[in-house]
Amino acid sequence: MNNQSKEKMYVLLEAELRALISREDALISSMSNFTAAVQNRFNFLWIGFYIVEGKELVLGPFQGPVACTKIPFDRGVCGKSWSNKKTLLVKDVHQFPGHIACSSESKSEIVVPLLTNEGEVLGVLDIDSIDLNYFDGTDQVWLEKIIKWFVSELY
Ligand code: SME
Repeated sequence: MNNQSKEKMYVLLEAELRALISREDALISSMSNFTAAVQNRFNFLWIGFYIVEGKELVLGPFQGPVACTKIPFDRGVCGKSWSNKKTLLVKDVHQFPGHIACSSESKSEIVVPLLTNEGEVLGVLDIDSIDLNYFDGTDQVWLEKIIKWFVSELY
Protein backbone atom coordinates (compact mmCIF):
# COMPACT_ATOMS: atom_id res chain seq x y z
CA MET A 1 0.00 0.00 0.00
CA ASN A 2 1.46 3.40 -0.91
CA ASN A 3 1.39 6.27 1.54
CA GLN A 4 -1.40 8.12 -0.22
CA SER A 5 -3.78 5.20 0.04
CA LYS A 6 -2.71 4.56 3.63
CA GLU A 7 -3.51 8.19 4.40
CA LYS A 8 -6.96 7.81 2.83
CA MET A 9 -7.65 4.65 4.81
CA TYR A 10 -6.81 6.42 8.05
CA VAL A 11 -9.06 9.39 7.17
CA LEU A 12 -11.95 6.96 6.66
CA LEU A 13 -11.03 4.94 9.74
CA GLU A 14 -10.98 7.99 11.98
CA ALA A 15 -14.40 9.11 10.74
CA GLU A 16 -15.80 5.62 11.25
CA LEU A 17 -14.40 5.36 14.78
CA ARG A 18 -15.73 8.78 15.74
CA ALA A 19 -19.20 7.71 14.59
CA LEU A 20 -18.95 4.28 16.21
CA ILE A 21 -17.45 4.96 19.59
CA SER A 22 -19.36 6.66 22.34
CA ARG A 23 -18.49 7.37 25.94
CA GLU A 24 -21.83 5.81 26.87
CA ASP A 25 -20.52 2.37 25.96
CA ALA A 26 -18.35 0.20 28.18
CA LEU A 27 -14.61 0.46 27.60
CA ILE A 28 -14.37 -3.21 26.65
CA SER A 29 -17.12 -2.79 24.04
CA SER A 30 -15.43 0.24 22.52
CA MET A 31 -12.05 -1.49 22.43
CA SER A 32 -13.65 -4.49 20.75
CA ASN A 33 -15.32 -2.40 18.06
CA PHE A 34 -12.14 -0.39 17.62
CA THR A 35 -10.14 -3.51 16.76
CA ALA A 36 -12.88 -4.79 14.43
CA ALA A 37 -13.09 -1.47 12.57
CA VAL A 38 -9.33 -1.34 12.04
CA GLN A 39 -9.21 -4.95 10.98
CA ASN A 40 -12.03 -4.54 8.44
CA ARG A 41 -10.05 -1.87 6.65
CA PHE A 42 -6.46 -3.02 6.99
CA ASN A 43 -6.60 -6.78 7.46
CA PHE A 44 -3.50 -6.88 9.65
CA LEU A 45 -2.15 -10.15 11.01
CA TRP A 46 -3.09 -9.03 14.51
CA ILE A 47 -4.47 -5.94 16.20
CA GLY A 48 -5.37 -5.61 19.83
CA PHE A 49 -5.13 -3.90 23.16
CA TYR A 50 -3.07 -4.86 26.18
CA ILE A 51 -4.27 -3.19 29.36
CA VAL A 52 -2.10 -2.23 32.36
CA GLU A 53 -2.96 -4.21 35.48
CA GLY A 54 -0.41 -3.72 38.24
CA LYS A 55 3.03 -4.62 36.88
CA GLU A 56 1.72 -6.43 33.81
CA LEU A 57 -0.07 -5.85 30.56
CA VAL A 58 -3.03 -8.17 30.18
CA LEU A 59 -4.56 -9.17 26.88
CA GLY A 60 -7.63 -7.14 25.97
CA PRO A 61 -9.94 -7.12 22.94
CA PHE A 62 -8.18 -8.16 19.74
CA GLN A 63 -8.58 -9.59 16.24
CA GLY A 64 -6.27 -12.26 14.86
CA PRO A 65 -4.57 -15.41 16.07
CA VAL A 66 -4.50 -16.27 19.80
CA ALA A 67 -1.91 -14.27 21.73
CA CYS A 68 0.01 -14.29 24.99
CA THR A 69 -2.17 -13.21 27.89
CA LYS A 70 0.38 -11.39 30.08
CA ILE A 71 3.41 -9.23 29.31
CA PRO A 72 5.58 -7.94 32.18
CA PHE A 73 6.63 -4.27 32.44
CA ASP A 74 9.57 -3.45 30.17
CA ARG A 75 9.39 -6.84 28.36
CA GLY A 76 8.81 -7.34 24.65
CA VAL A 77 7.86 -4.52 22.32
CA CYS A 78 4.65 -3.86 24.28
CA GLY A 79 6.39 -3.72 27.66
CA LYS A 80 9.07 -1.41 26.26
CA SER A 81 6.46 0.92 24.79
CA TRP A 82 4.91 1.02 28.27
CA SER A 83 8.19 1.72 30.09
CA ASN A 84 9.37 4.28 27.51
CA LYS A 85 5.89 5.85 27.17
CA LYS A 86 6.54 6.02 23.45
CA THR A 87 5.36 4.48 20.20
CA LEU A 88 7.69 1.76 18.99
CA LEU A 89 8.00 1.01 15.28
CA VAL A 90 9.72 -2.32 14.69
CA LYS A 91 10.69 -2.85 11.06
CA ASP A 92 11.88 -6.42 11.65
CA VAL A 93 10.70 -8.15 14.81
CA HIS A 94 13.58 -10.64 14.65
CA GLN A 95 16.03 -7.78 15.13
CA PHE A 96 14.28 -6.47 18.26
CA PRO A 97 15.97 -7.79 21.41
CA GLY A 98 13.41 -9.43 23.68
CA HIS A 99 10.59 -9.42 21.13
CA ILE A 100 7.80 -11.78 22.25
CA ALA A 101 6.65 -13.88 19.31
CA CYS A 102 2.94 -14.68 19.49
CA SER A 103 2.82 -15.74 15.83
CA SER A 104 5.67 -16.91 13.64
CA GLU A 105 4.01 -15.01 10.77
CA SER A 106 4.60 -11.62 12.35
CA LYS A 107 7.39 -9.67 10.62
CA SER A 108 6.92 -6.07 11.70
CA GLU A 109 5.04 -4.35 14.48
CA ILE A 110 3.88 -1.01 15.88
CA VAL A 111 2.93 -0.41 19.51
CA VAL A 112 1.25 2.83 20.60
CA PRO A 113 0.82 3.59 24.32
CA LEU A 114 -2.53 4.82 25.68
CA LEU A 115 -1.31 7.86 27.60
CA THR A 116 -3.29 10.13 29.90
CA ASN A 117 -2.61 13.87 29.95
CA GLU A 118 -0.65 13.21 33.15
CA GLY A 119 1.64 10.80 31.32
CA GLU A 120 0.23 7.61 32.86
CA VAL A 121 0.14 4.57 30.56
CA LEU A 122 -3.25 2.83 30.66
CA GLY A 123 -2.39 0.19 28.10
CA VAL A 124 -1.03 -0.20 24.59
CA LEU A 125 -2.40 -0.77 21.11
CA ASP A 126 -0.35 -3.44 19.33
CA ILE A 127 -0.48 -4.18 15.59
CA ASP A 128 1.43 -6.90 13.74
CA SER A 129 1.99 -7.24 10.00
CA ILE A 130 3.05 -10.20 7.89
CA ASP A 131 5.19 -7.78 5.84
CA LEU A 132 8.66 -6.67 6.82
CA ASN A 133 8.94 -2.93 7.34
CA TYR A 134 5.20 -2.32 6.91
CA PHE A 135 4.76 0.48 9.46
CA ASP A 136 6.12 3.99 8.96
CA GLY A 137 5.63 7.56 10.08
CA THR A 138 2.18 7.73 8.47
CA ASP A 139 0.92 4.87 10.66
CA GLN A 140 2.56 6.38 13.71
CA VAL A 141 1.08 9.86 13.23
CA TRP A 142 -2.42 8.56 12.55
CA LEU A 143 -2.51 5.89 15.21
CA GLU A 144 -1.18 8.29 17.84
CA LYS A 145 -3.84 10.83 16.83
CA ILE A 146 -6.63 8.25 16.92
CA ILE A 147 -5.47 6.76 20.23
CA LYS A 148 -5.18 10.20 21.82
CA TRP A 149 -8.77 10.90 20.85
CA PHE A 150 -9.87 7.42 22.02
CA VAL A 151 -8.33 7.92 25.47
CA SER A 152 -9.82 11.38 25.85
CA GLU A 153 -13.22 10.01 24.86
CA LEU A 154 -13.25 6.92 27.05
CA TYR A 155 -11.12 7.25 30.15
N1 SME B 1 5.09 -8.99 19.99
C1 SME B 1 4.59 -8.44 21.21
C2 SME B 1 3.75 -9.43 21.95
C3 SME B 1 2.30 -9.35 21.64
S1 SME B 1 1.88 -10.08 20.20
O1 SME B 1 2.59 -9.54 19.08
C4 SME B 1 0.25 -10.06 19.94
C5 SME B 1 5.74 -7.96 22.09
O2 SME B 1 6.90 -8.25 21.78
O3 SME B 1 5.47 -7.31 23.08
